[in-house]
Amino acid sequence: MPPQTNALRKAQFFPPQSVRLLSGREMPVLGLGTYQLKHHTVEAVKQALEAGYRMFDTSGDYHTQRGIGEAIKHSGVAREELFLVTKIEETDDAFAATQANLAELKQPYADLVLIHRPPGEGVGESLWQGLRRAKRVGLVNDIGVCNYSIEQIEELVYRTGELPAVNQIEWSPFGHSPSMLDFCSENGIVIQAWSPLTRAQRLNDDKLTAMAARYGKNPAQLLIRWNLQLGVVPLPKANHSQHQLENLSVFDFEISQPDMAKLRTLNEHYSAMGKLPYL
Ligand SMILES: NC(=O)c1ccc[n+]([C@@H]2O[C@H](COP(=O)([O-])OP(=O)(O)OC[C@H]3O[C@@H](n4cnc5c(N)ncnc54)[C@H](OP(=O)(O)O)[C@@H]3O)[C@@H](O)[C@H]2O)c1
Repeated sequence: MPPQTNALRKAQFFPPQSVRLLSGREMPVLGLGTYQLKHHTVEAVKQALEAGYRMFDTSGDYHTQRGIGEAIKHSGVAREELFLVTKIEETDDAFAATQANLAELKQPYADLVLIHRPPGEGVGESLWQGLRRAKRVGLVNDIGVCNYSIEQIEELVYRTGELPAVNQIEWSPFGHSPSMLDFCSENGIVIQAWSPLTRAQRLNDDKLTAMAARYGKNPAQLLIRWNLQLGVVPLPKANHSQHQLENLSVFDFEISQPDMAKLRTLNEHYSAMGKLPYL
């Protein structure tokens, strides 16, 4: 086999390391979730930065922003190498909450700010206008939503004329939506997967463990790789250094198309919260 063919085949195993947002900016294909980081956040984020993580997902209500800011400050990693995602709550003044988040992170800007969930009434048009204002003055590069249904995104776009860069939703083979995937890819919206590891509730599933063993990987790595091959950006959370390293070691194998299809058949709309909020 000519060496060129080998190189090409190898390249297919490695998804690109970043995905392009509608704005043209690049976002890493994998990030660290920080909800319920139990160990000292500074230590956990420091070890993640050393391991190679460059995207961190947080929110004002995770109480990890100060620790993330502290870890970044001492890491020596340049700000432009990082991609910081934070969120505002549906009851917030979006502009003021963005400023407050940045103050905790000790950062001049965030890469992405998301509406954490749709408000009880409407689709968050005024929150969106607050985020747009934050974007105009350089507090954030891209803005998006979490937990929005297709209909809610359509309504937001109808009212504001602007697509969200990202919809961050609970997403795993056990709980996902093919129609959401189609809708987002048709519109250039990137899905970020929260609880991509099912909060460790389904890692012992028989079919998952058997398939992972065939690839010489563990179930968490298979779940992360499944996302990467779908073009979905997973945000696995891990306190433990070993877990953090395992979750990055997903670029050296490829799930076959028949196995990707088998993983899709595990869908039972599973949600760690009881119900997938975007369905
Ligand atoms: N937008 C939203 O509404 C929303 C909602 C929920 C979460 N999120 C974001 O999504 C992130 C991820 O979701 P999540 O934290 O709910 O759950 P998750 O990432 O699905 O699961 C985290 C659990 O998996 C364990 N784990 C990690 N790597 C592992 C490995 N290689 N092998 C075995 N177990 C492993 C972790 O253990 P250790 O920690 O002990 O290592 C932890 O118990 C959150 O942290 C947050 O940033 C967003």
